[in-house]
Amino acid sequence: MARTIKVGVVGCGVVATAYYLPYLMRMANAEITAVCDLAPARTAACVRLFGAKSAFHDYYEMMEQVELDAVLILTAPGTHVPFALKAIEMGRHFLLQKPMATNMTDARRIAEGVRAAGIKAVIEPSSNSPLDPDFAHLRALVRAGVLGEVLWFSLGATGPTTYGPGLGSNPYGQAAFYAKDSGGFLFDLPYAPANIVAVLGPCKSVMAYTSISVTEHHIVPESEYDAFLSRATDPDHANYWDVVLDLPRTQPVRMEAVDNAYSLYEMVDGGVGACHVGRIFHPVLPGVGNGSLQVFGTDGNLIFGGGYMASIISSRKELLPSIDADGWYHIPLRGDRSRAKWPQPVPGAFNYYHQSTQHLIDCILEDRDPIPNVEWGLHITEMMAATLESSRTGQKVLMTTTLDY
Ligand SMILES: NC(=O)c1ccc[n+]([C@@H]2O[C@H](COP(=O)([O-])OP(=O)(O)OC[C@H]3O[C@@H](n4cnc5c(N)ncnc54)[C@H](O)[C@@H]3O)[C@@H](O)[C@H]2O)c1
Repeated sequence: MARTIKVGVVGCGVVATAYYLPYLMRMANAEITAVCDLAPARTAACVRLFGAKSAFHDYYEMMEQVELDAVLILTAPGTHVPFALKAIEMGRHFLLQKPMATNMTDARRIAEGVRAAGIKAVIEPSSNSPLDPDFAHLRALVRAGVLGEVLWFSLGATGPTTYGPGLGSNPYGQAAFYAKDSGGFLFDLPYAPANIVAVLGPCKSVMAYTSISVTEHHIVPESEYDAFLSRATDPDHANYWDVVLDLPRTQPVRMEAVDNAYSLYEMVDGGVGACHVGRIFHPVLPGVGNGSLQVFGTDGNLIFGGGYMASIISSRKELLPSIDADGWYHIPLRGDRSRAKWPQPVPGAFNYYHQSTQHLIDCILEDRDPIPNVEWGLHITEMMAATLESSRTGQKVLMTTTLDY
């Protein structure tokens, strides 16, 4: 009989209850052995909704008192490094939500610890990584030369939303995401550098400008989340995103870390591009580009968005799997986006929370190294850490990590 992986989950917040726990509770070869959160109302809801076998309010107690094979670290950003180091010390496999760390000293401690302990570690986000087959496909096309020599690219990870009335700030956020130790929106959005690397390969150098631009924010009080969970009766409808966008934001919170970062990334394989990360939502007119990745090369262009996952136009037509009447190769969006309220994962599309959970369990059972592994996490973390350093010193920062990708 196949082995059952005993999983502990620390952090019973929004992503845990919306995505990870409903998936985990149905896995044939995993069980939710323990959940842990500072808030008893949240662990109680997780026992009730997802059948967690035990509940803790102290991570270290959970780690010491329960026999676990793996732990999902889904807590606020400032806890990620000590919690990952504890998992390493205990020899437990883990999945680490973003950000891995906000400096390279911590990131290296995690990476070296994982390698020395011989454990599996999935470093989120796995979206915008080769775990998503569409990204692996795009990378293969770019490596084959479909764009020729890459000249320049741009990406703005600010994402427009027409969802009012909170157009001026993050529609959801707990205070911990604004604290200094969170790394701010720069480290909240590793999706941006990951998206660039997933298509263009490793980064060579970074020049950047950063600032804290909007200090005053208002968020929905955390008590609303507890009230939502206490009313939830269906594990498939415990997704706080379904309601939070409509709730009044009455709790003031101060932004203490970078919320506006502009990086110039020079890539190993060629090409220099601008990447803006922030979370000041700017609505755009329908049909106008929304800042997703655009790459321009000597032989072709690659553009995300516009109703497709990505599209390529190229003079190297023999490299394209197919060409539409408009002259482009389009990769369709998987799932029906029209039914999804932003920022829900789209039904039928690559749901990175589910895929990462599955991937961690598969890697443990099959003794494989995860695809978004510690080397991937180190490189993406360095692109963000180098952004801070370049902004501070005014100098170009040469990357010290790379990827064979
Ligand atoms: N909200 C999103 O849509 C989203 C999307 C992608 C990734 N993430 C990432 O997922 C993680 C969790 O995000 P979230 O939105 O669920 O946040 P959240 O604030 O809803 O949940 C975090 C939970 O961790 C608990 N916690 C904090 N410190 C703890 C400690 N020391 N011990 C035990 N529990 C502790 C909090 O009480 C809270 O319930 C973060 O790393 C975030 O970057 C969030």
